[in-house]
Amino acid sequence: MNDRDKTQTRTLHGKWDLLEHLVRGGIHADEDLAQDAAEAEKLQRKQEYEAFNRKLSELKFGKYAFFLNYGYVQNDNPSFAKFTPRESEFDVNSRRLVYEVIGDCPLDDLDVVDVSCGRGSVCMALHGRFHPNSYLGIDLSSEAVAFCREHHQIPNFQFEEGDAESLPLASESRDVVINIESSHNYPRIGAFFNECFRVLRPGGWLLYTDLLAPKAFARHTRLLQTIGFTKTRDADITSNVLSSCDETAERRMVAYKDPEERSYMADFLAAPGSETYRAMEQGLLCYRLFTFRKITQTSSPTNS
Ligand SMILES: C[S@@+](CC[C@H](N)C(=O)[O-])C[C@H]1O[C@@H](n2cnc3c(N)ncnc32)[C@H](O)[C@@H]1O
Repeated sequence: MNDRDKTQTRTLHGKWDLLEHLVRGGIHADEDLAQDAAEAEKLQRKQEYEAFNRKLSELKFGKYAFFLNYGYVQNDNPSFAKFTPRESEFDVNSRRLVYEVIGDCPLDDLDVVDVSCGRGSVCMALHGRFHPNSYLGIDLSSEAVAFCREHHQIPNFQFEEGDAESLPLASESRDVVINIESSHNYPRIGAFFNECFRVLRPGGWLLYTDLLAPKAFARHTRLLQTIGFTKTRDADITSNVLSSCDETAERRMVAYKDPEERSYMADFLAAPGSETYRAMEQGLLCYRLFTFRKITQTSSPTNS
């Protein structure tokens, strides 16, 4: 399949079809897109997320829609989260996912960049529980960044529009890169991983989770290790995420009345019975969580 066909497959029916995009389009599984096809793909993705954020802003509860991830429910899988959010906390499962991704990374006094921050899920989960020296949320969507600037006014926390594949950051300027449920959008994942390595200081942490075809994860791990990262954690959390979808998707779906919108959102939220949910159940898509470290000969991480 050529780059053009791949892009068309991924935008079938003029909507973002996650399953098509991830499983049949095979994004990331074999190779990155060529630069021009990648730019077209990103423009398309940006437009979709701008429209999605505008749509949320029109809804009554939109100002409370901070978390755009599927969430995590604890089961027999080992858990590394330092905090357990209270059941009464808003979007408790999505917060749990953020704490699970952070795991044993200390974060306090460190410089943190959250690539594809969306509407501020990491920022919400960090605030009051962790004390980074700085937090910068970057997202391709100007609507998402505007929302974050309006709703998360916290000292040392900032938000900027930017592309994960070309981060607007100086080399070796951050200690931690966080990336949650977003990398499936990047047509050149290799460029993103190179950027993570470039912006991290020696000893730095890449805290990373996403939903992809198993084959794509094998390629990701190879790419990251070739760049120079050391893998320190690798967990399949598909069952935790499915349990979260069981609990939360229907609740979130209540806002969508129109049948076409409902079918679109059912996949977006991986509601039980949706194609995305079934793909996870069948193992066509897998939700994995990783910690990678930039361990170099000169790095002497105080936090290892
Ligand atoms: C499913 S949301 C996840 C947001 C957030 N991490 C969370 O957990 O709520 C994916 C995000 O990726 C962003 N995104 C897509 N492509 C991007 C790119 N090339 N660079 C930066 N952000 C991008 C979208 O705008 C969107 O906010």
